[in-house]
Amino acid sequence: MKTTSRLLLVIAGLALSAPGFAGKDPLKNAIKARQGEMQLRAFNVGPLFGMAKGKIDYDADLAKKLAGNLKLMLDLDNGRAWAKGSDIDNYMGDTTALPKIWTTYPEISKYGKKYVEAVNELAAVAGDGREALKSKMGAVGKSCKGCHDEFREKQ
Ligand code: HEC
Repeated sequence: MKTTSRLLLVIAGLALSAPGFAGKDPLKNAIKARQGEMQLRAFNVGPLFGMAKGKIDYDADLAKKLAGNLKLMLDLDNGRAWAKGSDIDNYMGDTTALPKIWTTYPEISKYGKKYVEAVNELAAVAGDGREALKSKMGAVGKSCKGCHDEFREKQ
């Protein structure tokens, strides 16, 4: 009996300290949330770049779905994930977000707007053939890179 309850306590403790579980520091959670959104962008955009470059076969249904996912994510109001103070100066090793994001705000919004436009244009034609897809991927890639070049620590 005693062993069982101690074991349960250990398991509960592990669950609380497991990575990804809401931790104590809200800014660290914010960093994870925005990186999670970025990872989801990359996961969806990857095959689209592959198709545009001819590295994988064009698949209209898949292209439509992935571009649709990117568009759907534009509706996320994830502003809390960009909490002030969650920059690399305060969280070295956890984030690559430069303090400039906050000190020059709303400069980054311009880059966000370019991304929104590029994704909307892409989603409108992604299922219409490889050439149509390809014609829009350049702007998407540029919008990702443009923002990373300005607001993210060099990798
Ligand atoms: C408006 C600015 C902006 C745009 C547009 C943008 N990113 Fe990011 N991205 C960032 C910032 C800032 C970070 C650093 C986040 C951090 O480490 O806290 C980042 C980080 C990332 C990461 C690393 C996440 C991690 O786990 O550390 C990936 C992957 C990524 N972005 C992919 C993309 C892709 C793909 C696109 C375009 C489809 C894109 N991003 C568009 C600003 C942007």
